Amino acid sequence: MLNYVSTRGGGEPVDFAEAVLKGFADDGGMFVPQWIPRIPREQLASWRSLSFNDLAFEILSMFIDPSIIPSEDLKDLIHASTAPFSHPDIIPVKPLGDSSHYVMELFHGPTLSFKDVAMGFLIKAMDYFLRRVGRSASLLIATTGDTGPAAAHASIGRQTIDCWVLYPREFISEEQERQISTLEAANVHAVAVEHCPDGGDSLDMVIAEMFEDRDLVERLRLSSVNSINWGRVLFQSVHYFHGYFRVAETVGDPVAFSVPTGAFGNLFAGFLAREMGLPVAVFICANNRNAAVHRVLTTGRFSREGLKQTPSNAIDIALPYNYWRFLYFVSGRDSTAVQQWMSQYREKEGVEFSAQMMEKISQGFMSAAVSDEETLATIAHIFKTQGGYLLDPHGAVAVAAAAKLVRQLPKDTRVVSLLTAHPAKFPKVIRRALELDGELPAQGLHESIERVKSRFHRLSLCDCSILKQALIEAMTERT
Ligand SMILES: Cc1ncc(COP(=O)(O)O)c(C=O)c1O
Repeated sequence: MLNYVSTRGGGEPVDFAEAVLKGFADDGGMFVPQWIPRIPREQLASWRSLSFNDLAFEILSMFIDPSIIPSEDLKDLIHASTAPFSHPDIIPVKPLGDSSHYVMELFHGPTLSFKDVAMGFLIKAMDYFLRRVGRSASLLIATTGDTGPAAAHASIGRQTIDCWVLYPREFISEEQERQISTLEAANVHAVAVEHCPDGGDSLDMVIAEMFEDRDLVERLRLSSVNSINWGRVLFQSVHYFHGYFRVAETVGDPVAFSVPTGAFGNLFAGFLAREMGLPVAVFICANNRNAAVHRVLTTGRFSREGLKQTPSNAIDIALPYNYWRFLYFVSGRDSTAVQQWMSQYREKEGVEFSAQMMEKISQGFMSAAVSDEETLATIAHIFKTQGGYLLDPHGAVAVAAAAKLVRQLPKDTRVVSLLTAHPAKFPKVIRRALELDGELPAQGLHESIERVKSRFHRLSLCDCSILKQALIEAMTERT
């Protein structure tokens, strides 16, 4: 049976249920499967016309033993996760202008971002495991704007789950905040954190510290559903199979994915899909000015720089923490090397990779850093030239990066840009991009965003400097 081990090499292998419930491994590392199943070409070809749900079932079955979730239950969990989606295809894939560029709309879920796809499944699976053993869990989530709403929404009313959503108040849009703070659910707690020097990264640091304290983890029954959780990245790998099959005529055709990148969770999921055998020609890492991965690919250095606020706030991340998981695989599962890089990163503010390592890191990856002006100009350009099609700022970063690199791609490559959020979440940015004073176009509005505008905020306010202590006290009271 396929079990899960830590990227830091410590502890015993655990099954899928434990990996998902724990989030972090006991030694503070991230869970990874003992091996990555490989899908033969003929099998891939036979999956081409599967629906999203059936495809998700085939892929997940390779990683989740039926003794952990029997097949019928797994199918039910997948169907329940995608049921709230408003589009019949769940994730529609559409041409953008010509037959070589496509967009994959990942924002038709209940909170209008790509996080809904995997989060719905993950929280339902956790609830399933917790009910089976008669336990409960406290989810601790740091969000740069979209993970929080998705987790909060998926947790509503679940008796096994208490959901704590922390967000850096000055760094997310008003609409994203309302998606978290206006929910009327006794088991969802919105915590608006002020004075975060590094935005969401400051919150990640507090969470990582709490998870390193094993007594605290046990006492508060802590679990994490950020993209360190294996359940999230596994489910996100399905997007890539789905997108590939929608645009390739034959399995083997060159397809590139342009991915707006923050913590590298979504790109790691793409890498996983390719390791499983999906013939992706290139992944374009689309960074904004917070360009940690772009710097690695262009200078060979993985380094920390001060956080910059940009119009694509959800990818304003200085440390793409899933990159450690990627480095674990490309180094040939070398936990010692990853540990050394992590301490160099902490102590020397950066890691220099050898030429040999860079060859492995850059295989099948390209990157671009998109400026704020380019993001806004891309929204305006696509709106004007594509019949009023409206990109959100993150999708715009993907489309802009694809446009910068398209000439360097192998001949006849089809490019799929991932649209990871609905524009209605970012009206201020859309107004700036389209130079509007008045009403937004209808494409920039969404009924679910309008509905919560007249509701009270139900949130706790906290200064970042006392966050850990305040959380421990509040969570202790709840448990
Ligand atoms: C809208 C949007 N796009 C892209 C991303 C980046 O995804 P990842 O952090 O997995 O790189 C995020 C999340 O952080 C997001 O909310």
